[in-house]
This record gives sequence, structure tokens and C-alpha cells, in this order.
Amino acid sequence: MAKNVLEINNLEIEYKTAKINGNKTVKAVNGVSLYIEGGEIYSIAGESGCGKSTLAKAIMRLIKIKSGEILYLGENIKDFDKNKIKNYRKNVQMIFQNPYSSLNPKMTIRQILSEPLEINTDLSKQEIESKVENIIKKVGLDIKQLELYPHEFSGGQRQRIAIARALILEPKLIIADEPVSALDASIQAQILNMLNDLKNEFNLTLIFISHDLSVIKFLSDRVAIMYMGEIVEEGLKEEIFENPVHPYTKLLLNAIPKFGKKSEDIPEGDIPMNLPKGCKFSSRCTHSAKSCELSCPEFTNITSTHKVRCVL
Ligand SMILES: Nc1ncnc2c1ncn2[C@@H]1O[C@H](COP(=O)(O)OP(=O)(O)O)[C@@H](O)[C@H]1O
Ligand code: SF4
Ligand SMILES: [Mg+2]
Repeated sequence: MAKNVLEINNLEIEYKTAKINGNKTVKAVNGVSLYIEGGEIYSIAGESGCGKSTLAKAIMRLIKIKSGEILYLGENIKDFDKNKIKNYRKNVQMIFQNPYSSLNPKMTIRQILSEPLEINTDLSKQEIESKVENIIKKVGLDIKQLELYPHEFSGGQRQRIAIARALILEPKLIIADEPVSALDASIQAQILNMLNDLKNEFNLTLIFISHDLSVIKFLSDRVAIMYMGEIVEEGLKEEIFENPVHPYTKLLLNAIPKFGKKSEDIPEGDIPMNLPKGCKFSSRCTHSAKSCELSCPEFTNITSTHKVRCVL
């Protein structure tokens, strides 16, 4: 059996926020477990505030976790020494939502794409040049554009450059956090098509985060639906889209935004403070019964690949 690239067990992450009436705790990620197999696109969907970016940041080692573990190729990333952290940073790359702020404005595209190779590999100047020229073509740009600066490109082109930078070290895992949400509909479609092509060509392993299920439907192998820091349903793309079980998944599917909705239109979810004892969705669920408010439903298998956290 192929070894999982990533495995997360019972992850909990909290933020402490100072409020007028005392400190509050936001339980941003609340007992998340998942695995990512090599070569798959695992998508995470859910309303704004459900914990998607927090989960991504934890995988990138950018924030402290409260409990649980994140295993990369079977090893706990918390225990990594300097060398292993360097290797991890090379092999786990991130693509952010905003291509405007994620590229250094003072560097040419050639410098932006060469830098990771200069820092992380022993490749010669010529070898770096050839890799950079190869990758810029793969993302649909021209070699001549390597001498330009980020401000000389459109939003979609900048996201192509960000994708090229994420790919240049041939990482084992890429995390893309709302990578097309800031782009116009037609550009979104181009970038998604390109990611699909690159997935097949490079056998990419991708965690794809989006609030937009129409985008997720296009690209995923497996899908996780998050609500208030928990995964409430997970399954193969077909299971989630053709046989959704959790009332929250059904609600999201019914409210699929038109392809191309922009990030400022993301619906706000509830803030995960003072969480109910039982099902976190009970206050919004039309099927809620007394028992739902009393104890938290287990995350239960319906098929070997489809899991749901609901008593229905
Ligand atoms: N730095 C922070 N300090 C306090 N609360 C935060 C911080 N970052 C995120 N949160 C809160 O944690 C929850 C999850 O946020 P986030 O992971 O950004 O969600 P998503 O990416 O799904 O929109 C939200 O309620 C958000 O308000
Ligand atoms: S456990 Fe109860 S409240 Fe929660 S989603 Fe299922 S039916 Fe609704
Ligand atoms: Mg986010």
C-alpha cells in the first residue's frame, strides 16, 4: 500500500482573543483527522471561518497546535530537527489566495523562480536556468516574461507564477488555499484547467481549499466538508456530490454559488466560541432532535471511503 504523504490525527488548534468582557477561546480546529495519499487531490470545503486556513497553516508549521499530530511520511513534524524542517519546507509548498501579496515585488520572475533552486539544490546556473524556463512554459507563460516584475502581470498570470514557484522544487505536497477565489470567473476556469493538466503531468499531491463547491467539484478526488473546526463529512467526490448525507453538506450543495463568485462574497459561518456540547450544526439544522444537542455525533463510516458526523 502506498504510504500516506500526510496524516493528521485528532488535531486541535485554539486562538486566544482578548474581548471586552474577558479572554475568549476560539476553537478553530477541533479534532480533525485525515490522510493524504500520493497523487490525489484532497479538497477541503466549508464557509468562511470554519478553520480551513488554520489547518493549512498548521500543516505548514506556521502556527502552534494545541494537541494531536501531523505526520509527514510517517514522521511527526513537531519532532523535526533543522535538516528535516529544511527538507519539509522544500517538499511541502503553499499557494495562497492573493497572488498580489505572495510574490516579492522587487524581484523579477526569473529571480523569484530561481531562488528556491539556489537555496535548496546544488544545481548549476545552467541547470537552474533550464528548469525555470521549462516551468514558466508549463504554466502557460513565455520565457521573455521571466525578466518582468510581478506588477507587470494580471492577477491570473501572477497566480500562474505562484503555481510555478510552488512546483519548481518538485514538492511531495502542495497546499492551495483558495487559489482562485480572488480571480474572475473566466480566469478561474483557466487556472483550474491548468492545475488539472499539471496534476496529471506531475502526479501532483494537492490539498485544495475552497469555500466554492463548484470549484471543488471540478478538481477533487476526495472531499472533506468542514463546519466549526470539524470535518462533518468526507468521501470520494462522487459520494459527496451525488450522495451527500450531512445536512450541512446538503445546505452547501443547494447554495452552490455561480461559478466564479469572488472571495468577498464568501458566506460567514458561525464563530467557533462557546461550542455546544452536542452537534455543532444543531442550531442551524432542520432535522435537529433533542439527542443532537446532548452528545457529539461520532464520525462514522457509511462506506469504506464515505464518513459522516450525524445521527441521521
Ligand atoms: N489569528 C487569529 N486570532 C484569533 N482568531 C483567529 C485567528 N485566525 C483565525 N481566527 C478565527 O479562527 C476561526 C477559523 O479561521 P480560519 O482558519 O481563517 O477559517 P477559514 O480559512 O475557513 O475561513 C475563525 O473563527 C477565525 O475568526
Ligand atoms: S446530528 Fe442532528 S443536528 Fe447534527 S446534523 Fe445530524 S440531524 Fe442535524
Ligand atoms: Mg481561509
